[in-house]
Amino acid sequence: MSGTLATVSYIGATILFILSLGGLSNPETSRRGNLYGMIGMTIAVLATVMGPQVTKAGYGWIVGAMAVGAVIGIYAARTVKMTQMPELVALMHSLVGLAAMLVGFANYIDPAAAGVFQGAEKTIHEVEIYIGILIGAVTFSGSIIAFGKLSGKITGKPVLLPGRHFMNLAGLLVVIYFCGVFINTHAVHDGMTPLIVMTVIALLFGIHMVMAIGGADMPVVVSMLNSYSGWAAAATGFMLSNDLLIVTGALVGSSGAILSYIMCKAMNRHFISVIAGGFGTAEGSAPAAAGAQPAGEVSPILASETAELLRDSKNVIIVPGYGMAVAQAQHTVFEITKLLRAKGVNVRFGIHPVAGRMPGHMNVLLAEAKVPYDIVFEMDELNEDFPDTDVAMVIGANDIVNPAAQDDPASPIAGMPVLEVWKAKTSIVMKRSMASGYAGVDNPLFYKENNRMLFGDAKKMLDEVLVVLKT
Ligand code: TAP
Repeated sequence: MSGTLATVSYIGATILFILSLGGLSNPETSRRGNLYGMIGMTIAVLATVMGPQVTKAGYGWIVGAMAVGAVIGIYAARTVKMTQMPELVALMHSLVGLAAMLVGFANYIDPAAAGVFQGAEKTIHEVEIYIGILIGAVTFSGSIIAFGKLSGKITGKPVLLPGRHFMNLAGLLVVIYFCGVFINTHAVHDGMTPLIVMTVIALLFGIHMVMAIGGADMPVVVSMLNSYSGWAAAATGFMLSNDLLIVTGALVGSSGAILSYIMCKAMNRHFISVIAGGFGTAEGSAPAAAGAQPAGEVSPILASETAELLRDSKNVIIVPGYGMAVAQAQHTVFEITKLLRAKGVNVRFGIHPVAGRMPGHMNVLLAEAKVPYDIVFEMDELNEDFPDTDVAMVIGANDIVNPAAQDDPASPIAGMPVLEVWKAKTSIVMKRSMASGYAGVDNPLFYKENNRMLFGDAKKMLDEVLVVLKT
């Protein structure tokens, strides 16, 4: 393929990626958005593989690597559970970071590149390599820790080292100093020492940064690492002089940054404080594990009584959370919704911005169950309607309906906006036990006078509710 054709293909792929992002911003056009993205990526891969930078001798390696990657990808896509998606995404971000690191080192030691750049161009190229490896290393180690936290292999509680801000600052200064050393070296083997020192610091910083994040702030970290992976890809694009990678990386990087900002607003957090780590716990104090101890009496309710309450209601708001995803209860939820709506009950869904374990988690599940978009509302759109609601049905949600976020300034989730389900005439919380949610804090909602607990697996309980509603 000629260089011109490759450039035209890259422009086509870029346009498709932008259309894809546009499509993904709305549930109704998201399918089309995905399709644009897939076509764009196919064009991008073909144009790169068949482009002028790849020689015939490299085809065997590329085809082999693509076959291995395809097998792993298909296996992962088929076996991963919906609830494991955030972990998988974190793992994928780590691969982007690793690739940026490896490309950086390969680019630096590549004998073919020696002497190609001179003077200012050489300095710029070396800064590209240095920054590329830096972002790649932070993304790589940070994403591995995020994977561990999301999958429960590493504690979700913030791990706060004494003097951590000082350590971060010292690390930053050392990294800047070694950047100067690196670009002033002349031989490749002289430059390796500052490069390796910086890589080790960046890897440690990634681990340190994510370890210090408290449970409830993980959504911000997940989207922030998404953004970092984009910048790592853009840095790789600079190192390889690949325009498409630069544009695609910048698209992912900036959309991830916008998402992080939206997440921060939704959680009422300051972006810098989250990155600096340690949010989710008061400075210097132990994480609020004590808050996880249940305190008070709860009033249980049966599935049959829940069905009666729902049947006699005029207004019902359903608040789904992570437990609905675990139980895969979305289809039964929609069956119940259809029955109630047929009986004239006004049923709406209230979605918290960080419900579940990934951005848009609940919207994806409800769309899969074919719940119409016009009855699915964001938290801000219906939080004021709870006082006029007969039943607020909480399905496998916990942190996002915790009144302590408003009432208890010492709570690790203090200040996080929540769905005010306790203002409904009756709230029903559907979960298996008194266990706490992701943030590890007890929920005073459970002990409120107008709250009922429907204990059990959400799918099983909702099936029972459905049977009664059908009679
Ligand atoms: P959580 O607070 O994690 O609560 C989920 C509840 O579901 C648990 O208390 C659990 O209680 C219940 N549950 C689990 N399996 C169930 C089943 N099979 N049937 C019924 N209930 C079940 O979830 P949430 O309210 O959706 O809040 C999300 C939390 O995750 C927030 O703290 C948020 O910061 C964090 N987070 C979000 C994201 C994104 S991007 N959305 C990413 C990382 C972390 P039982 O064990 O008693 O059943």
